[in-house]
Amino acid sequence: MKTVNFGKKINCTMVTQIHTLFFSPTGTTAKVAKQITAGLDVPALTYNLTTQKDRNQHRKLSFNSDDLLLVAVPVYAGRIPEFMEELFSTFEGQNTPAIFTVVYGNRDYDDALLELKDLFEGRGFKGIAAGAFIGEHSYTEKVATNRPDAEDLSAAFQFGQKIKATLDELPKLKNHRLTVKGNVPYKERKPMPLMAPETNEKCTDCGVCVEICPMEAIDQTDNRTIHAEKCIRCNSCVKHCPEKAKSFTHQIFIEFSERLIQNCSSVRKEPELFFL
Ligand SMILES: Cc1cc2nc3c(=O)[nH]c(=O)nc-3n(C[C@H](O)[C@H](O)[C@H](O)COP(=O)(O)O)c2cc1C
Repeated sequence: MKTVNFGKKINCTMVTQIHTLFFSPTGTTAKVAKQITAGLDVPALTYNLTTQKDRNQHRKLSFNSDDLLLVAVPVYAGRIPEFMEELFSTFEGQNTPAIFTVVYGNRDYDDALLELKDLFEGRGFKGIAAGAFIGEHSYTEKVATNRPDAEDLSAAFQFGQKIKATLDELPKLKNHRLTVKGNVPYKERKPMPLMAPETNEKCTDCGVCVEICPMEAIDQTDNRTIHAEKCIRCNSCVKHCPEKAKSFTHQIFIEFSERLIQNCSSVRKEPELFFL
């Protein structure tokens, strides 16, 4: 951000570059992050951190106070995806303004937004706004079906616009602290039995799943073999497979999905936004 003088008397704080970072195995978080960025309407650098290859390329990023960071992740079990903590812990800001965004599957985002904010604020970033948006649940298309929809995307765009309109006020708000919903200690991550999608006879070994798997859990030579110890159940391979050859068949997964459908498919949750 630079304070620039436009010739006459107008002094205005200007963001010259947004850095948009997201992790998004099934694509909903990416859609929301892109709309917020579009609403901000400032040149943006986008870092898609979804695959291991992407994440390896973007370790140890540092940002200064002229930058604006937008970071967006899906909610996993009420928290941010566990393995992203390690990557985020290599990033550094220098009083860098930041926007925190989580996308969740219409159950709850619990402590994920607070956890994301705490992690980045502990590394030299200053939260200026935060949002929790809704995306189709990775486990089942019957919960939050097709979200983010047009209304959600418009809310995300307007969120970006609203932040842009307040950027000039930031110097005045330097002693304000962003507060978001969430509790400390964060929701406990309960251990889950190891599981991975099964592959049926429709698999053609096309390799799409290998390319998009965020954890490199799918065997490169035999696309039917998924290493359960690496699988995070993100459902990227299930949703991206052109032959619909992959699915979770474990009883525990099926029961969990049924409970989600029962409890979370009839009420429509709406985006929640927080500002300084
Ligand atoms: C392992 C896992 C855990 C999840 N936990 C939650 C949760 O606690 N609350 C919720 O509402 N949605 C939860 N979801 C759903 C995702 O947060 C939601 O579908 C999100 O939109 C997925 O983002 P993506 O499309 O960028 O991958 C979970 C999904 C996965 C794969």
